[in-house]
Amino acid sequence: MAEKNINKASAPKAKNEGVYHLQLKSGDVPGYVILPGAPERTLVIARDWENVREVASYREYKTVAGTYKGTDIACTSTGIGGPSSEICIHELNILGVHTCIRVGTTGCIVPEFDLGDLIIPAACVRKDGTSASYIEPEYPAYADTYVVMALMEACERLGFRYGLGLDYTVGSFYIGQGRPLREDGSGYWPSFAEKIIPDLATARVTNIEMETSGQFVVGKLHGMRMGAVLSVISNRVLDRWGDNGGESKACLAASEAIRILTEWDKKGEISLTLKMKK
Ligand code: URA
Repeated sequence: MAEKNINKASAPKAKNEGVYHLQLKSGDVPGYVILPGAPERTLVIARDWENVREVASYREYKTVAGTYKGTDIACTSTGIGGPSSEICIHELNILGVHTCIRVGTTGCIVPEFDLGDLIIPAACVRKDGTSASYIEPEYPAYADTYVVMALMEACERLGFRYGLGLDYTVGSFYIGQGRPLREDGSGYWPSFAEKIIPDLATARVTNIEMETSGQFVVGKLHGMRMGAVLSVISNRVLDRWGDNGGESKACLAASEAIRILTEWDKKGEISLTLKMKK
């Protein structure tokens, strides 16, 4: 039987005529979207909102929309790593989304941070893999300055412990983050893996995780403002793992930062052109 409703391979559509993976249509989300990795985290984020509604859920992509203190807001989960994040950001861009804040977890590799602290990456080392499909490796992965300022302001208002970070994003959780296969050291364990964390710490890289640089580069190339707030769930200096309240703090900080950015945008306080002194 001949297949009906054949899609364009270059721009497939979902059955509901929305974008293919997120299954969202124009108007389902506002211009500002929070990006958690885990679908379950969308509900943690939405705990601080009103008028909450689940808009779509397919594979790793769950979208929830609502209002936060009167500001329209949404969050869409990206799944783990660069490729699934790329799909999410590309499709959000089609829907007119212009500002994204990643909410995630990370491992700290310098003694200034500990479990539950928040890290706002100013820039990332690009080991994500995905962004290399978009542009040469010398192109920087950096956060939008105003998104960083809004996140800092949000953390100040909420009284959260935070710091700016130089993040290392890598497309691996185990060997690529210096985690051996087995505690007794048997199995594949190349010599470079042993040196990953100490070498990054020497270079004053603050933290390690799997999504941020890919998101910053893909979003930037699509003309979007990108930022991230990451809670420290692993301390690679002391070899400890635990949330310590960080996840819910990062979720709230992201919502507050979206509210701040929306206010700045409405007042026209953000101008990317140079302000010349008269
Ligand atoms: N996410 C990572 O990728 N690594 C960690 O250590 C913690 C969170």
